[in-house]
Amino acid sequence: MENKRPVKITETILRDAHQSLIATRMTTEEMLGAVELLDKVGFNALEAWGGATFDSCLRFLKEDPWERLRKIKDKAKNTPLQMLFRGQNILGYRHYGDDVVEYFVQKSIANGIDIIRIFDALNDVRNLRTAIEATIKEKGHVQAAISYTISPVHTNETFINMAKELENMGASSICIKDMAGLLTPYNAYDLVKGMKETVKIPIELHTHYTSGIASMTYLKAIEAGVDIVDCAMSPLSMGTSQPATEPLVATLEGTQYDTGLDLNLLSEIADYFRPIREKYIENGTLNPKALAVDVNTLKYQVPGGMLSNLISQLKQLGAEDKFQEVLKEVPRVREDAGYPPLVTPTSQIVGSQAVFNVVLGERYKNVTKEFRGMVKGEYGRTPVEISEEFAKKILGDEERITGRPADNIPNELDKFRSEINEYIEQDEDVLSYALFGQVATKFFEYRQGQKYKLDPTLADKENKVHPM
Ligand code: CO
Repeated sequence: MENKRPVKITETILRDAHQSLIATRMTTEEMLGAVELLDKVGFNALEAWGGATFDSCLRFLKEDPWERLRKIKDKAKNTPLQMLFRGQNILGYRHYGDDVVEYFVQKSIANGIDIIRIFDALNDVRNLRTAIEATIKEKGHVQAAISYTISPVHTNETFINMAKELENMGASSICIKDMAGLLTPYNAYDLVKGMKETVKIPIELHTHYTSGIASMTYLKAIEAGVDIVDCAMSPLSMGTSQPATEPLVATLEGTQYDTGLDLNLLSEIADYFRPIREKYIENGTLNPKALAVDVNTLKYQVPGGMLSNLISQLKQLGAEDKFQEVLKEVPRVREDAGYPPLVTPTSQIVGSQAVFNVVLGERYKNVTKEFRGMVKGEYGRTPVEISEEFAKKILGDEERITGRPADNIPNELDKFRSEINEYIEQDEDVLSYALFGQVATKFFEYRQGQKYKLDPTLADKENKVHPM
């Protein structure tokens, strides 16, 4: 028999799977019923936090995301917990000061996170540096991620060089993050093979089933030597989510890649999540469209979510007939903007600008604030430098930012703390507020109200006004 090279699986049902299929609505209660079982399986990690889960907890579920993390950690004694972290954006939508990034990393690890997967939409490694250094300082596992994309300037060599650079920056592992399901099986084979020959640390592959090729991509990546792949338990797998865990385990059983995971135990976990899936189908949260194969993703090489955003923007403008024109404009805008990977937030920025260019009948007649920001350098360095001529057309005489964007941001924590002093019940609250402002204060008010409902004398003791 050939040398054994067991493949490891990171399970995403507690984060990406429900973020992708049911708008991140799974509650902590629903998760907790399965965590002890999930912990028994022997997964490489449970991806359980970060991404949109934090926002969804505060905004929709009225849950404290930190409390969720502590509760999951309490039941997952053996399996590392993993989170997704958007570089200098953390989990928010702008660049934050280094003190906020450092404190967020510190508190994430203190509350139970073991592995932090850190990525940047533009693949500008300067936007990863603070989070990487903070994770190393807190003795966490840095998984540095590469946002995978297809463009005339992106080659396997581009990504392999970036992997090498991330290894040199101190990453403990590398993730090829294919958020749109664009990585085809034979390309995956070449990319993984080249990367394995260049870096010593483990390589993990993350993809989505959106375009219908993900399990083939995993198989070829496994043959090329990938160490870890991301899967989701079957009830919330496929479609815009990850490939299902159980079929991959069965596929590899008895081969040199055998995961060693127990299918009976996995089937018990699937039994637990199946009624939860049914609940979200019945209440309309799980849209059957999210489960269909989206061939357009492969045809236009843009994320599925971006295509549906374009359609809805055109609808609002009463210009649905311009869809094909906009699809042709997207690559032109992307070229002007230095070929950013199309992932949140760059996919929206490029998409909206393409819509304006077509609908107004003149290119860059109206430039969105975000597009101007990207050209200016507010998000970081684009993969290819934007031409002087184009920058001048968009910015006029305004100066461009060529350094790391966060270098222009002063420390912010003290200011945030003073703004929400009256609500603070735990150190972590200032971070919830830093990232989600009003959404967080609304949650704090709700939390205070719940507490006073349980013990009406508390409001007087704490000398606080009872919130309505
Ligand atoms: Co994902």
